[in-house]
Amino acid sequence: MRKDVVLITGANGEIGHGLIAHLGERKNLSIVAMDVQPLDKTLEPYCERFIQGDILDTMLLGRLVAEFEIRTIFHLASILSTKAEYNPETAHRVNVEGTLNLLRLAVEQSQWQGRPVQFIYPSSIAAYGLAGAADKDKCGKVTEDECCNPITMYGCNKLYCEHLGQYYMLHYKQLAADHSSVHVDFRCLRFPGLISSVTIPTGGTSDYGPEMLHHAAQGIPYACFVRPDTRLPFMVMPDAIKSLLDLASAPRENLKQHVYNVTSFSPTAMEFYNRVKKAFPDSIITFEPDNARQSIVDTWPADIDDSAATRDWGWKPDYDEDRAFDEYLVPSIKARYQSA
Ligand code: SER
Repeated sequence: MRKDVVLITGANGEIGHGLIAHLGERKNLSIVAMDVQPLDKTLEPYCERFIQGDILDTMLLGRLVAEFEIRTIFHLASILSTKAEYNPETAHRVNVEGTLNLLRLAVEQSQWQGRPVQFIYPSSIAAYGLAGAADKDKCGKVTEDECCNPITMYGCNKLYCEHLGQYYMLHYKQLAADHSSVHVDFRCLRFPGLISSVTIPTGGTSDYGPEMLHHAAQGIPYACFVRPDTRLPFMVMPDAIKSLLDLASAPRENLKQHVYNVTSFSPTAMEFYNRVKKAFPDSIITFEPDNARQSIVDTWPADIDDSAATRDWGWKPDYDEDRAFDEYLVPSIKARYQSA
């Protein structure tokens, strides 16, 4: 029997690592992975093919269409919020044009196969834009449709691509003579800050959480770039992977919307610090807020309402804050650095 092919872009990234390691255990599918950098050695055994290349390279993507019958695309490649502010136009190209290229690939594959190809897209809390710290305290949990006025290039890119995905799903070439009835099956999650025990994020603005933990575990001093009272929603990687796979396997008719919030726990930076200090009492962590990065985090909600995901596809995180630290982060990060 021909195996279903899953295309994963941004294979070396945080989510890519977790997803490939998880899906690689399944015998009924083949993973075709893409990244601009050579594939991390630990991921090689799980991938049927690795393509080193740029999602802006349309010739390369064209060859993929011809070679594989792709059933699902996890489009994870992206330039995160802090890095994007140093070169916004490059970020726009990668985050928007790159996504457009992958959507185009998905639509071509859908039409060729005569059935919708799934397009799973991680968006972000960066799609929100509150008026600042005071507003954040007032507004509580925000739903998918509230306060979407992002102030970062990354946030603008994510919000726009949420719409682009819906366009490719519902209205692609709506006036053209060759308008087809087969379109992409676009499904999107808005993630909070993610924390993995295996990888450290690069270029994000929620990175103070994972950075604090990974520095402490290695005995490296860390200066946290936000104020102690800063609150953000977070989720650990196993739950992020679970949410992607649960959304992908949900019956289409149950999905009442195209974009779903998911979250798990919302500590302040001080509460995060207390957890890290308890696990690594000798760690040296200071608070040295960076005004510009703080201003970005102040526009992101302290908590998000993920009840639509619970209602439509039974979403529930496995890890609350206690379990996340006590059963996942602390033991696996300790094991990781002890054996390094
Ligand atoms: N982790 C992302 C960032 O900080 C937000 O989704 O850019």
